Amino acid sequence: MKNADLLTGITTTGTPHLGNYVGAIRPAIKSSKKKDKLSYYFLADYHAIIKCQKPERIIKSTLEVAATWIALGLDTDKSIFYRQTDIPEILELTWILSCITSKGLMNRAHAYKASLTQNRIDKRKDLEKNITMGLFNYPILMAADILMFNADKIPVGKDQIQHIEMARDIAVKFNNTYGKYFILPEAVVDEKIPILSGVDGRKMSKSYDNTIPLFESEKHLRKLIMKIKTNSLSPEEPKDYSTSILFAIYQAFAESNEIKEMKERYKKGIAWGVMKQELFELLNEVLKQPRQEYNKLIKSPDYIEDILKKGAQRAREYSVPFLGKIKKSIGIQIIR
Ligand code: TRP
Repeated sequence: MKNADLLTGITTTGTPHLGNYVGAIRPAIKSSKKKDKLSYYFLADYHAIIKCQKPERIIKSTLEVAATWIALGLDTDKSIFYRQTDIPEILELTWILSCITSKGLMNRAHAYKASLTQNRIDKRKDLEKNITMGLFNYPILMAADILMFNADKIPVGKDQIQHIEMARDIAVKFNNTYGKYFILPEAVVDEKIPILSGVDGRKMSKSYDNTIPLFESEKHLRKLIMKIKTNSLSPEEPKDYSTSILFAIYQAFAESNEIKEMKERYKKGIAWGVMKQELFELLNEVLKQPRQEYNKLIKSPDYIEDILKKGAQRAREYSVPFLGKIKKSIGIQIIR
């Protein structure tokens, strides 16, 4: 098996929503179809248990995320689609990397620092309250995800850039200590990819509980769209599309001629109710067929399990021999 030209992980704690689709899933599926490039996509379930200690939630989310990616057309023969926990080598590498990573580097990780700050704001005596070793080690696990497959490009959101830089630092440290085993990964952040707002106007995110899940029923999808925040301009008044949440979502899904036309309708003063209906119709049209596929898949966990197991098998064709080499390089091997 070849190393990963491209690799990315999806934490399995939530139900995929429109923001996930536009920000991560759609570009990933597009790149998975590229010729001569091998993409690795995985369900980061060991990352999930850092923030979520509800087993039912993890089980449900793992199934939902896998079904979503497959329903939306991920080519699971061409790319490698697997679950992190099916690759035990990743955890072995996590320990090996932990032994060369300085604690000081981890002290600087944003996620850890944000928790300290929160404790300070809450005026807690113990600033480390509720901070687990899992959270603290998170960037090392992520480095292992990446380095295990000598991944080259890592498409991520801005919030993850620091983690990729840490993976590079860790790789450099290992290479300098034991020899040049790892290539240095690079974060790719596509500035053109829109960041969608949720129904309340803040960034669409499960932590704000403002998402529009991708595969809600038609009825519920309509209901959620009707809830999207607008201003109080009356039907005839001209409206600014550049600040409209409805328009931003519309733009992320429509064809360029439709977008152009919609801009005109904003200038002429489209009523919010009409715009909501337009957005609903567009989204429903785009999502109808994958939704059917998704509903079928969700009822066939065995089928999904088979796909993930096959993906893991292929991924391990790379990780097993590579980890063997790494262990040998650090002085751990069979004595004979
Ligand atoms: N931490 C990433 C996130 O929350 C998910 C992730 C885990 C990941 N391992 C990865 C992304 C490796 C890219 C590469 O979005």
